[in-house]
Amino acid sequence: MTAIHVCRGTLDDEERGDLVFAGDLVIFPGVTALDAFRDRVDELVRAELGTTDPESAQFALAPTEYLDAVREARQRVRDDTAAHRLLLTALENTGLAACDTYWDWVHLRVLPHGKEHAGAGTNWHRDTWASNLYAQTNWWTPIYPITAGRTITFSPAQWSEAVANTSSEWGPRAYRGSGAENAGGAVTPQLAPPQPTVPELQVVINPGDLLCFSGAHLHGTVPNESGRTRFSVEVRTLCRTDVEQGRGAPNVDGHASRSRHQWFHHVVDGTSLRSRTAFGFRAGPL
Ligand SMILES: [Fe+2]
Repeated sequence: MTAIHVCRGTLDDEERGDLVFAGDLVIFPGVTALDAFRDRVDELVRAELGTTDPESAQFALAPTEYLDAVREARQRVRDDTAAHRLLLTALENTGLAACDTYWDWVHLRVLPHGKEHAGAGTNWHRDTWASNLYAQTNWWTPIYPITAGRTITFSPAQWSEAVANTSSEWGPRAYRGSGAENAGGAVTPQLAPPQPTVPELQVVINPGDLLCFSGAHLHGTVPNESGRTRFSVEVRTLCRTDVEQGRGAPNVDGHASRSRHQWFHHVVDGTSLRSRTAFGFRAGPL
């Protein structure tokens, strides 16, 4: 049974891991430094979209112009060291120990209103189907206010139940060649057809709140027909001690042939986690 914890204090890495590796969701409300991070991301987004209302810019710009601006905004956020410093400070303010933490990169997700943009979101997936790293922890936060009609969604019932998926044949090359990067979305291994009906839990948090969950959770994007564009940021972390000690979520249905330590770099010095694998890290629990 997935529980939702609202944590107004801090959790150290082990305390947080005990919750998220058991399938619980953790919400840190009003995280100090996250407003400054949001302000920085907002500044970058507005600079590219050229508007005072990014959530409605899709209706003011030509489609190609809009998608080009979104792509630039995503890259600006991915490259912006000031934003990264602020996000790391926010993570530390939840209790995370930076010295032991590796992350991938800071993803700005933009999901416009409308069925034609559905491909910019993500269908049901577990991140671990791709990374094969069961200590992977995801952090997610909206930049502007969201509703149940434009947010992230989970299927708690599938936390411990296997679902058929394409993880055995997926690889990063498929990601690069899919064109989905240009559409603004992330492609991970998917549910295998026929697609089951999945009971879901849509989570709505406020800007300034951080949602923390295991990369092994089955999750996806709510199709956005809310009339406004959803802007959110996510980053994935690994605690080195968890990896070394083999701590993490259970693997119920992942069939990836490799673990992607190389996607993760130290949050402070930028060294690759892959270089650490030579010292005998164990794979995640099977
Ligand atoms: Fe995901």
